[in-house]
Amino acid sequence: MNFLDRLNIYFYHKDRNKKWPDNPPKILGWRDEESQLSRFRIIAKQHDFNHKSVLDLGCGYGDFKPFIDQYYDIAYYTGFDQQKAFIQEAKIRQLTASKFFNADFARDTLPKHDIVIASGSLNYHSCDSNYLVNMIDRMYQAANEVVIFNLLNAKTFPEDTLLKGYHSEHVLSYCRNLSSDCYIEDKYSKDDFTVVLKKSKTPT
Ligand SMILES: C[S@@+](CC[C@H](N)C(=O)[O-])C[C@H]1O[C@@H](n2cnc3c(N)ncnc32)[C@H](O)[C@@H]1O
Repeated sequence: MNFLDRLNIYFYHKDRNKKWPDNPPKILGWRDEESQLSRFRIIAKQHDFNHKSVLDLGCGYGDFKPFIDQYYDIAYYTGFDQQKAFIQEAKIRQLTASKFFNADFARDTLPKHDIVIASGSLNYHSCDSNYLVNMIDRMYQAANEVVIFNLLNAKTFPEDTLLKGYHSEHVLSYCRNLSSDCYIEDKYSKDDFTVVLKKSKTPT
């Protein structure tokens, strides 16, 4: 992301914070808490998270960690977010086996983890027209087992100046270049779909 992209995202969340100071999911950009949780539920169902390390790109307040703790005993969790205020709040929560970094995941080195997830964080416009495919490549490199991420559905989501949707068939076709073991989950929402990209057992 370049400086302007990051600035747009910064002001977007700052503005939401002003409008809904007591509503964390709203500040993060979700319609409501259920929008956030419905995505978490889908992610959690796609893989066995037990004893696995999890890298959460665009982690916000780290809400995925307490969510996944209800269902699995994960090894450890790492959250990256470029919004300093979110990372500060996440650290204050003192979540177990968790580390948080204030970082731009599109630029910084991604540490290897078993599972890499991105929920709601790949929908922002970028000046880089290859932003999404570059991120898919980088997430795939960073994952030992699986990458799970969601995107807004271009068929139903009206593009605005900050957010953009994607066509699931295009994204899936790109992912198939990396691994044949990938699929889309889209039954949970008409505006969104989740991509599950498992590491190929044989090098491509
Ligand atoms: C819609 S929020 C979702 C937060 C969290 N995943 C959740 O579901 O609670 C998207 C987050 O992605 C972060 N983000 C977007 N692009 C990023 C980037 N390149 N590097 C780090 N964080 C990014 C934003 O700052 C924001 O906190």
